Amino acid sequence: MARLSNRERWDSVPEAFVAPGMATQPTGEYCDMVLKAQQNPEAFWLQQAQRLAWQTFPQAASRSDFTGDVLVQWYPGGVLNASESCLDRHLHTQPNKAALIWEGQEDGQREVLSYKDLHARVCRLANTMRRLGVKKGECVAIHLPMVAEGIIAMLACARIGAIHVVLFGGFSPEGLAERLSDSGAVLVLTADVARRGDKRIPSKETMDTALLRCAEKSRVQHVLVVPVTGASVPMHVGRDLNYAQEVAKEQPDCPAEPMQAQDPLFLLYTSGSTGRPKGLVHGTGGYMVWASFTHAVTFDHKPTDVFWCTADISWITGHTYVVYGPLANGGTIMVYEGLPSWPQPGRWWDVIDRNGVTVFYTSPTVVRAAMREDSAVLQSRSLESLRILGTVGEPISPEAWHWFHDEVGKGRCAVVDTWWQTETGGVMITAAANSVTPRAGAASLPLPGVEATLLDTQGTVVHGAGEGLLCMARSWPGQAQSIWQDHARFKQTYFTTCPGYYFTGDGARREADGYYWITGRVDDVVNVSGQRIGTAEIEDAIATDHEVVESAAVGIPHDLKGQGLVVFVVPRAQGVFHPDAVNRAVAAGVGRYAVPEKIYVVRDLPKTRSGKIVRRLLRKIAAHDLDGLGDLSTLADPDIVQELIALVGAQG
Ligand code: PRX
Repeated sequence: MARLSNRERWDSVPEAFVAPGMATQPTGEYCDMVLKAQQNPEAFWLQQAQRLAWQTFPQAASRSDFTGDVLVQWYPGGVLNASESCLDRHLHTQPNKAALIWEGQEDGQREVLSYKDLHARVCRLANTMRRLGVKKGECVAIHLPMVAEGIIAMLACARIGAIHVVLFGGFSPEGLAERLSDSGAVLVLTADVARRGDKRIPSKETMDTALLRCAEKSRVQHVLVVPVTGASVPMHVGRDLNYAQEVAKEQPDCPAEPMQAQDPLFLLYTSGSTGRPKGLVHGTGGYMVWASFTHAVTFDHKPTDVFWCTADISWITGHTYVVYGPLANGGTIMVYEGLPSWPQPGRWWDVIDRNGVTVFYTSPTVVRAAMREDSAVLQSRSLESLRILGTVGEPISPEAWHWFHDEVGKGRCAVVDTWWQTETGGVMITAAANSVTPRAGAASLPLPGVEATLLDTQGTVVHGAGEGLLCMARSWPGQAQSIWQDHARFKQTYFTTCPGYYFTGDGARREADGYYWITGRVDDVVNVSGQRIGTAEIEDAIATDHEVVESAAVGIPHDLKGQGLVVFVVPRAQGVFHPDAVNRAVAAGVGRYAVPEKIYVVRDLPKTRSGKIVRRLLRKIAAHDLDGLGDLSTLADPDIVQELIALVGAQG
């Protein structure tokens, strides 16, 4: 292999696998990986496992099977600890290298933790958790803003073999309670108060209410309160403890628990087509290999990088690219607590300049918001440290891509759009930086070893150029193993639409040369600013209002957020119902972040004669897209469509 030229090597990749567009592009190493992963996946993924520090190296790569009961199993026989791979082995080679640079949103708040410092802080917390009785295999909930303690807490859980469940700060008490009960968390870490620009978010108070709501089902023994602002908050004697005081009692060293490769590293709740959020289970070995591999390949990782992934740690992006990927690769991570434009526009550009950020990974929503700012904001910043820019979570339009490339990257940075999901653990489809030529607006090409496939609605594989349901034909190391306590739901959700394949829930279009364009969700999931919201969750929350007969939530295109949420509500009594009740129900049941853009109070919803709501029509009506409404005669009440069109037209 080594004696062949790049071109010759590429020419030997089997025809069926090569996206013709790639043939002219990949560099030698990338091209080798595609070839090896295709020819012998088992050997390829075992080789990639060497990226981690194993206590016992695995005997095999994968025993996964998408048929029958569905088994996702990676690296059987392997024993490791994720925190050792992220910390201990770098202690020997680069103890004083910055592992984490943290900046707070108030001026002058900055802290740099070397690998040695981070290791010590993780160990102190791990010892604290052990002292508080947390056992291997038990869940710990982390409900913290972007402070170093959030990352420390994740790694401390990993160290003692506890399963972390990071919970979004924007969840309502109800949303938190549901996840605390479902996971059976025994310990919670929360903040006294979190900052969000001028706003103060009462994290501890919200958690207290959540714990009251789930008192009967919850197993929480202790709440560790991280003093973020130092505000005084009520403490329940015997249950609540001050984080700073507790960790100060402990030693800065703690043996790492040996974990089987398939032992869960974390649960992460995400939305789907049904009301109940599902706790996806990620294993230790496969996920960690995937985090390390995809971070290195997608972002062309260099030891001198300062890697800033702006995602919140409660998102899978935060797990994989704030924490596990870059730290497994011995990188330096940038963590910033605040908003892009607070206290003034350009705040994030200052963070880049001040800290020499080299890789900046954010969302298209952030890019779109920055595009709207005065051009002087960008012009007054240098941004010369940047070498790679990335986006995730939603499609990026060619216009936004070009702006990002030209204005932020000054035309000299690689720009990578990355398509993936909570379920995939890490990037799946991308134009890997400096290896694959990007195409503005396209997710681009599957990473080495990712066997993306399109299927039509009959379940037939689409060959060549075409459009269809985006599926994976083979497991990959980062794949979620199950849904917590509900493997049947895992199988039902992902493996029944297209039997024998993992079904992503997305549709995609593939060009003749193999480049993928994501066309969006084909299920009832709406993507607001990259935040995944299940419409069923919204409808369930609204249903708690007894004045509502039924409701339907749909997504419509939104200039800034990508998609916006619109709700149609049928009240029990017309004329007396106030739409604010819907906002209150959504804020209480899901969280403020999911409050709809627009609410229409209507007489009825368009339904089939069997009573099924025709969401396709609601989506079109809400988006003022009235072409091609199709045959309405099959509706139970065809007149309702004109009525809704008139109402939406009048209310805008
Ligand atoms: O619809 C796709 C969209 O976000 C969904 C996954 O959401 P979540 O699990 O919250 O993970 C987001 C971060 C990885 C996908 O099913 N999505 C994600 N990335 C892209 C995208 N849509 C288009 N282009 C992307 N790059």
